[in-house]
Amino acid sequence: MERLSHEQLRSHRWYGTESLRSFSHRARTRQLGLSAEEHMGRPVIGILNTWSELNPCHIHLRERAQDVKRGVWQAGGYPVELPVMSLSETFQKPTTMLYRNLLAMETEEVLRSYPVDAAVLMGGCDKTTPALIMGAISMDLPAIYVPCGPMIPGGFRGEVLGSGSDMWRYWADKQAGLVGDAVMAGVEEGIARSPGHCMTMGTASTMTSVAEVLGLTLPGAAAIPAVASAHNRMAAASGRRAVEIAWEDLRPSAILGAAAYADAVTTVLALGGSTNAVIHLVAMARRSGVELTLDDFDEASRRVPVLADLRPSGAYVMEDFYLAGGLPGLLGRISDLLHLDRPTVTGLSLRETLAEAAVYDDKVIRTREDPLSAEGGLAVLRGNLAPAGAVIKHVAADPRLLKHTGPAVVFDGHRDLMRRLNDEDLPITADSVLVLRGAGPRGGPGMPEHGMLPIPERLLKAGVRDMLRISDARMSGTSYGACVLHVAPESHVGGPLALVRDGDPITLDVEARTLTLGVPDEELDRRRAEWRAPETVYRRGYGTLYDEHILQADEGCDFDFLTGSGGAPEPDTE
Ligand code: FES
Ligand code: MG
Repeated sequence: MERLSHEQLRSHRWYGTESLRSFSHRARTRQLGLSAEEHMGRPVIGILNTWSELNPCHIHLRERAQDVKRGVWQAGGYPVELPVMSLSETFQKPTTMLYRNLLAMETEEVLRSYPVDAAVLMGGCDKTTPALIMGAISMDLPAIYVPCGPMIPGGFRGEVLGSGSDMWRYWADKQAGLVGDAVMAGVEEGIARSPGHCMTMGTASTMTSVAEVLGLTLPGAAAIPAVASAHNRMAAASGRRAVEIAWEDLRPSAILGAAAYADAVTTVLALGGSTNAVIHLVAMARRSGVELTLDDFDEASRRVPVLADLRPSGAYVMEDFYLAGGLPGLLGRISDLLHLDRPTVTGLSLRETLAEAAVYDDKVIRTREDPLSAEGGLAVLRGNLAPAGAVIKHVAADPRLLKHTGPAVVFDGHRDLMRRLNDEDLPITADSVLVLRGAGPRGGPGMPEHGMLPIPERLLKAGVRDMLRISDARMSGTSYGACVLHVAPESHVGGPLALVRDGDPITLDVEARTLTLGVPDEELDRRRAEWRAPETVYRRGYGTLYDEHILQADEGCDFDFLTGSGGAPEPDTE
């Protein structure tokens, strides 16, 4: 492995030259309390920390950064912690997805504008992982990901609770009058019992697993519980490795080729992972200059079995997965479907990182002979209602609805839905198809997680727990049900969803991968001619930038001007 000399380090331009600027940077480092021998000639390791007091998933990252720093010092680097925006899935409104690209931009520009030689990216809550990685790809400095780790299992009265999934289940039971306030108070206290991201196979666990299989973390990092001592050790080891990748100049572009993304798709499907991964992976791949489309997911979905028996599709939670062997265990079981000879951030090939992989519990990580589902959990649908595609996680849906025709009940935006859903006069049965539009990337705005439309109370009371639902929204990775998501193009830009009227027959056929609006073309043309584009929500600020540049779901919802990598000027440091 070739190593850079210290004069070749990027930070040398800030600290080591004969210029007035370098003098000033050294003087200001004395101001920071460091003497020359503590940092001169060492690689600067930027620790991008998404810690915040309104992000319970990342609340331990302030301390965990100290473990990373310990590792960086041990290996002869100079650690600097750089706070960046925290995307808190629970608290941030209208949706963190509105801000994924903002954090990606911030990541790229922080790395570009400061004297950083390699980056440690600390995150885990949902959009944080793709955002940090997208920024790192575009800046293309050596980078290693430190996933914040899942929470310990939730618990209440002897029952394991999983984030999201069990909240919605209990909430539905409460709406149906089956449980009271005392039970709900117990669930409130028991469902999120420690720092860390959601411990189901939601978006967070899916995307940290993606980071791991792409080769951007230390092996096994994604499943380590946030509060386990192993997590401190992984953080320190990642700090040590960050110093090495700075010397080796091992950049994301050397790791993230088409094979890495193909393996990420395979892994998401074997995990029964979140539908959000489709959008994020497409966006990440486009940053890497790799073409990844919805069809790649559908094709893989037909041959990759779901082996992880994790909620919401299965029974277990992330600590079980960790103890059962974690992601290396799962990857070992699908190694024939992976590209094993590609590089990873460890300096080893994927094959070498899996040398010790083993599964310790076949109930949690199923065997190939006994999968949770023989086919992958995602299907990509097309048809006159979704010309550019839509997605359904059918493994988490009531099988009765996977081939279904019913009359549409249409809602224009989430407010309309909440206002009218429980209206006594709303003509709706268990066979109706709930349609939510105006919830896409631009219409939402931010493509909120409204895609698991609630079931009307009177149907809940009658025992209905799943209905066919269609929207241009996303849904939480911890959600479940027959929810067709990411319909593209969205209604806000005139996609066919905008033309649906109450009572129109809609047909879903998962096996045929079709989503069809049973209205003749001439009638749709007539409706299209009458259609008027809704007003944009934003008049100024970031929202305007977002509205003008956001791509549709099938293109990954990146900003059109952020696609790709490189080409931005390095700052003049003289
Ligand atoms: Fe942070 Fe679920 S709320 S991962
Ligand atoms: Mg989520």
